[in-house]
Amino acid sequence: MPAKLSKSVWVFVALAGFAMPAAYAETPNEVLSSIQQDAAATPGFQGFSGARGEKFFREKHGNEWSCSSCHTDNPAAQGKHAKTGKAIQALAPAANAERFTNMKKVDKWFKRNCTDVLGRSCTAQEKGDVLTYLLTVKK
Ligand code: HEC
Repeated sequence: MPAKLSKSVWVFVALAGFAMPAAYAETPNEVLSSIQQDAAATPGFQGFSGARGEKFFREKHGNEWSCSSCHTDNPAAQGKHAKTGKAIQALAPAANAERFTNMKKVDKWFKRNCTDVLGRSCTAQEKGDVLTYLLTVKK
């Protein structure tokens, strides 16, 4: 492809991307496989576990809150921010089609919530376990 043409194609792709903010960029399964790629780089990785993810989600990790403190023990239900009381829409993709469809949003909130709950970032293993669990939750 001539350099000039390829450049205009990329401009088009970029503009098309901006013109469709409502379109879901990813599916939850794509988000999961991207997390899996990160996790697979860790020595000893043996796959994700929904059971481990559920336990992780409900338990406290040394700080005041668990994931459930805001998202409740039922991720298919509406949650409530433990501090501000603001409503939080359901986290399970079965109950909320917008969840895990935007890698940037997923990264942003994992970072923020894991810092609150664990005092550090979640590992790829922990994120993958949680998402595997959330994908098993039915409406
Ligand atoms: C202090 C309240 C609070 C706690 C504790 C909390 N969250 Fe959240 N979470 C939020 C809020 C607020 C949002 C963003 C608002 C929204 O998207 O509804 C959010 C969004 C998310 C998202 C974005 C998902 C998407 O694609 O829209 C993920 C993932 C997430 N939380 C996971 C977790 C995990 C895992 C934990 C435990 C480690 C946790 N949260 C603990 C409040 C919390």
